Amino acid sequence: MKNKILVTGGAGYIGSHTCIALHEAGYDIVVYDNLSNSSREAIRRVSNLIGESIKFIEGDIRDDEMLGQVFSSNDFFGVIHFAGLKSVSESVAEPLLYYDNNVSGTITLLEVMAEYGIKNLVFSSSATVYGDPETLPIDESSPRSCTNPYGQSKLAVEYILEDLAVSDNSWNLIALRYFNPVGAHSSGQIGEDPNDIPNNLMPYISQVAVGKLEKLSIFGNDYRTIDGTGIRDFIHVIDLAQGHVAALNYLKNQIIINKRDSIRFLPINLGTGNGTSVLELVNTFTEVTGKAIPYQFTDRRKGDVASCYASASKAKFLLGWEAKLSITEMCQDTWNWQSNNPNGYSVKDI
Ligand code: NAD
Ligand code: WQD
Repeated sequence: MKNKILVTGGAGYIGSHTCIALHEAGYDIVVYDNLSNSSREAIRRVSNLIGESIKFIEGDIRDDEMLGQVFSSNDFFGVIHFAGLKSVSESVAEPLLYYDNNVSGTITLLEVMAEYGIKNLVFSSSATVYGDPETLPIDESSPRSCTNPYGQSKLAVEYILEDLAVSDNSWNLIALRYFNPVGAHSSGQIGEDPNDIPNNLMPYISQVAVGKLEKLSIFGNDYRTIDGTGIRDFIHVIDLAQGHVAALNYLKNQIIINKRDSIRFLPINLGTGNGTSVLELVNTFTEVTGKAIPYQFTDRRKGDVASCYASASKAKFLLGWEAKLSITEMCQDTWNWQSNNPNGYSVKDI
């Protein structure tokens, strides 16, 4: 049974944690990443953690020739496709970059996969495709809509995958819709390493705690939520990584063991099913780390929704997967990574 997996974007935050989980589950991985938002240091650290050198190819998913070389020299079972740009604000400023990288890049990848007859894919989608949800918790049949180019690029890829599955039923395409990934590997060796000032809440909190940023701005305290601040479904990146292993195992079981023709297009939420408010996260972070987080309330951030949390039952039913780690563990592991690596993977702290 083939167990070699191409991991695009495998040097990034979620990809690097997933590489470890895949290795531990017995998969043979090849990482393909252009390092536009990651570093070789992450690959080096993942190699240290798994005790062997990761196969790494520096390349762009828009480069069909290079991808072709990778597929012609490896016999893959399938692809986990993390590679993409993910900043909402940058996507508003540079929509063409986002559509090119995330949508054209995925089309190129799919074309090369088709050329080599590799039709098993796990795609990194996002809860952002649900826009402002009509009902909570959000299940996979909820209406989809997006308000920014980043979200549109994820939604566009979902539509492309759906159409592809209709056109040719030998494709097996799983879109994992992540909610809010946070946390880090318990070793403190790998974690999230934003390039500039973080857009996302947890890295912002941890950079305040470590003294790199002065104060957190909490965007809005007048939402109709328990304490007026936004509610999100934070999920530990280690649980998320296990979700990818579960998705691959599911693909294998369906295709090989049950001899089912194909999965076609299958969207699955990866969330905990629990909502936590911004203030609750800040308070838990302080309780766990002993670090006070100075904050001020500011206006709502444009495009933010009040509450967003998953129905996690489809993942449990189909994949046998559910998130196990608590908000406390998410804060502990984030702090362990941030305090040991105040400058992330930068050479300054090697
Ligand atoms: P990340 O930026 O840490 O990782 C993405 C990786 O892809 C980086 O290593 C980057 O260098 C690489 N990459 C980008 N464009 C590429 C290209 N054209 N060719 C090759 N490599 C390329 O981001 P992450 O948080 O690990 O997210 C992984 C995926 O999950 C992304 O597709 C993202 O949109 C999606 N996602 C992330 C979140 C989140 O909050 N982190 C939530 C939902 C979905
Ligand atoms: C969470 C909550 C903010 C920062 C984003 C993307 C989404 C997905 C995950 C990729 C909100 C509040 C934040 C700060 C704050 N990414 N906040 N002060 O917006 O739920 O989702 O990341 O797919 O597409 O949109 O995550 O961490 O930015 O915000 O008060 O400095 O924290 O208003 O309520 P979000 P986030």
